[in-house]
Amino acid sequence: MPDTWEALEHDCKNCRECSLWETRTNVVFGVGNQNAEVLFIGEGPGANEDAQGVPFVGRAGHLLDDMLEIIGLKRDDVYIANIVKCRPPQNRDPLPAESEACMPWLREQFRLLRPKIVVCLGRIAAQRMIRSDFSVTKEHGQFIEKNGILFMGTFHPAALLRQPQNKPEAFGDFVALRDKIHEVCEHTY
Ligand code: URA
Repeated sequence: MPDTWEALEHDCKNCRECSLWETRTNVVFGVGNQNAEVLFIGEGPGANEDAQGVPFVGRAGHLLDDMLEIIGLKRDDVYIANIVKCRPPQNRDPLPAESEACMPWLREQFRLLRPKIVVCLGRIAAQRMIRSDFSVTKEHGQFIEKNGILFMGTFHPAALLRQPQNKPEAFGDFVALRDKIHEVCEHTY
């Protein structure tokens, strides 16, 4: 695997490790600050992300931006990536084999970024990154340490658009995130 962000992104953009390459418009590698201490992980690109090659740029992305802003963060302060880098057709959940095939890219993003805090947006990311039976409803907002990195699962912004009654709890998770950032991160955010 390449040793620089540039080379990693270049290789990722040519990936054909699963069949999602056949229907993608763009690979959505990830965006943000390559020195960020906080990494957000979503599920996979939707239609807008596939069209633009950038994660979280549709309605759910705007909500994510708003939630970041409420805790004093901008997109450029954090790094944002997905479990799968190519859009699953009709926005279906990524298949386990697709997530598995895509994991080496995320692993390399971890290796280059060395985040202190990882926020998993939604069930797919939380079950892949934290625990296969993780329940967002029951366990959102809790920080779980694994190999010296703090992981937290919270509601996916697209789910919050469908079920706005969960927004107060999600905002609570972001406030807890802000406090945790102040506790463990070295950069001034
Ligand atoms: N939903 C995701 O999980 N990721 C994106 O990039 C956009 C929407």
